[in-house]
Amino acid sequence: MPVNPDRFLQDLHALRAIGASGVGKGVVRPAFSEADIAARDWLAGRMAEAGLEPHFDPVGSLFGLSPGAERSLLLGSHSDSQPEGGWLDGALGVIAALEVARAAQEAGGPPVSVVSFEDEEGRFGVTTGSAIWSGHLPLAEADGLTDPAGVTFADARAALGDRRGDFVDPARFTGFLEMHIEQGPTLDTAGEALGVVEAIVGIRDMTITFAGQQNHAGTTPMALRRDAFQALSAFNLALAERFANVVTPATVWTIGHVSLHPNAHSIVPGRASFSMQWRDGDADRLRRMEEIIRDIAAEICAARGMTCEFGPMLGLEPVAMDEGLRAALARAAEAEAPGRWRHMPSGALHDATNAARLMPAAMLFVPSIGGISHDFAEDTAEADLVSGLRTLARAVADLD
Ligand code: GLV
Ligand code: MN
Ligand code: MN
Repeated sequence: MPVNPDRFLQDLHALRAIGASGVGKGVVRPAFSEADIAARDWLAGRMAEAGLEPHFDPVGSLFGLSPGAERSLLLGSHSDSQPEGGWLDGALGVIAALEVARAAQEAGGPPVSVVSFEDEEGRFGVTTGSAIWSGHLPLAEADGLTDPAGVTFADARAALGDRRGDFVDPARFTGFLEMHIEQGPTLDTAGEALGVVEAIVGIRDMTITFAGQQNHAGTTPMALRRDAFQALSAFNLALAERFANVVTPATVWTIGHVSLHPNAHSIVPGRASFSMQWRDGDADRLRRMEEIIRDIAAEICAARGMTCEFGPMLGLEPVAMDEGLRAALARAAEAEAPGRWRHMPSGALHDATNAARLMPAAMLFVPSIGGISHDFAEDTAEADLVSGLRTLARAVADLD
């Protein structure tokens, strides 16, 4: 089943051009934006040209179904991006899937289907499209979720218009393989070409709001202030101290989005809403971290005469990859890059977490230059992109 690296790279660059940021190779293609929907329409066309049947589900996840009644492997990832995203995060797995499916069609088999899940990057949730498909997140609940600007998921997905069909029956698929950039420094630092993922971390994510008293920045004595930013600052410091006995060097937490009200130089901020996200491979540690977060927030607000509100808690459990699919990827990696690959965990979240609820699932990583991702500067050497593609194709042929 010979893949065509030139065709693969051309398609990868064609997708990059839809929503190109103009800064390096970056893209701005958040879920349901004009660029995201245009990219999905382009991809549906490429799927059809490859002999696949394009099909949008009710939330915009685009499948390219292998024709006929035969069950198939499902390959893919996502084509939406972060608000400032790289050209490979998600796109690589989708275009590699397209090339392998195309090569398989040309070779007369095996049957391969392709998917680009919607909102993996979590404009509304955490891996929203695949979380809904897998049954982890009920559609009615998802419809009420809002993005940071207050737009609901229900309103955003209406932009898909009459593209939307039914959900695809997961029983059509024998397993899910997702190729992705590593998005961290491990492979690049070690000079290795490939990573076979052992497990994907779990995640928790919620919005917290501290409310105090908006007031004049010149006349309000420091001792009398109920300043929401000062409370957030104290919360952040206390968090690092109280986490110290619970976390490991692999545990991570991030306050990545902060909204201060009214956000003006001469006003003591009355309200701070912020995202609180934490990730670890151990579900019990995630739970203990949640307790600490809730306790500290309540203590800090009580001590300052402020109120504290917790938004809905979103999350995914840590998940191990399927042994059989992993073994096929490992054999393919050793054939493609002997001695230059490793088994490794994933600290990034992926649609494979949700697919693993429905079918055997596994993942293949290629290096990220400098370990940079979720940034316009994200990149991977062309030779590594192609060796990932070849490894994926080898594994698919092996599994046949
Ligand atoms: C997905 O992009 C993640 O945040 O890990
Ligand atoms: Mn991704
Ligand atoms: Mn991402």
